[in-house]
Amino acid sequence: MKAANPQDWPEHGGRRTALLKHFGLPPDQPLIDFSANLNPLGPPAWLGEWLSGAAPRLAAYPNPDDEAPARAIAEREGLTPEQVLVTNGGAEAIYLAAALHAGGHALIVEPTFSEYRLACAHYGLTVESLALYGEDFALDLGAAERAMQGAAVLFLCRPNNPTGTLMPRESLERLLARGRETGTTLVVDEAFIDFSDEASLTPLLAGASNLLLLRSLTKLYDLPGLRLGYLLGAPGLVRKARERQMPWSVNALALGLVAPLLADADYLSRTRAWLAGVRPAVPEAVRVLGYAVPATQANFFLLRSGQDATEAEALFAFLLCRGLLARHTHNFPGLDGHWLRLAMRDGPDNARLLEALAAWRRP
Ligand SMILES: Cc1ncc(COP(=O)(O)O)c(C=O)c1O
Repeated sequence: MKAANPQDWPEHGGRRTALLKHFGLPPDQPLIDFSANLNPLGPPAWLGEWLSGAAPRLAAYPNPDDEAPARAIAEREGLTPEQVLVTNGGAEAIYLAAALHAGGHALIVEPTFSEYRLACAHYGLTVESLALYGEDFALDLGAAERAMQGAAVLFLCRPNNPTGTLMPRESLERLLARGRETGTTLVVDEAFIDFSDEASLTPLLAGASNLLLLRSLTKLYDLPGLRLGYLLGAPGLVRKARERQMPWSVNALALGLVAPLLADADYLSRTRAWLAGVRPAVPEAVRVLGYAVPATQANFFLLRSGQDATEAEALFAFLLCRGLLARHTHNFPGLDGHWLRLAMRDGPDNARLLEALAAWRRP
């Protein structure tokens, strides 16, 4: 089996064809995908029927004056529709947050999702990394507060992709207060907050004009192809983001699905029941096998076997040969390929993963 060059690893998870090719495996090799952090319950059961009745929606442009999607989100979040902008996935929300600070200086709490850096590069921001430290990926708050002098924007992800760790609310409150002094906007990506036991930061929006929260509906509802997310903030910031959004950016099907997705309380409670079973159990079972696994508040976890990237690559290949696709960490500054990220899935898939991880550790 041939190894991939670090620069050849794909940027995101879920890239099975590229990886099978890199490792010289047949393109039709069956794989269980632990590399993409999607809800293993699959999309809501009613979605197929909804979509089959939705064809007429495609005969018209998405209506920019339709307030119903923003209203549905505002109601769910306890905000006003003026504090909501529906976006083409969480990804567009990230790029809009960068566009609002084009040409400025950005801080990014890393290791984290690679798109913050890419969005900053796209809009000509200079980037400085705030490195999380230690095995539990903590932030040096004092260093962050000092670095905020002169920074237009600070990006962080909560819970963080790929570490799964979640910064305490009190730390965010300190950063927000500091941001008021330095004129720094905090952009907190909450793409995975619905998988967490901790609350969103939406209550902080009431008193903060320098806070933007980014959300994705594609992870929770297992709809990455739909492209649906939103941005929350003070009305002034949201208006500026709207001015920078491309016309008809969110398609008519995605707009039409906002309200029914958010109204599906049963789907959310089934997701919570699944998480209540897997999140305490799976990372702990992996720790017991002798791997390092930071505490996670997401639907995925990081794992380290040895001390270097060579061991992680060998484990990656070992899992791939057993039909299990992990996520490499070569493009996460600070992880540098030493760790693997794995999504939590349903019982039988998790059992197969644990079996393979146990086999790897057996002398
Ligand atoms: C932290 C984070 N934010 C945003 C996104 C993008 O989400 P979407 O599919 O809604 O664009 C991802 C996707 O992997 C992510 O990991």
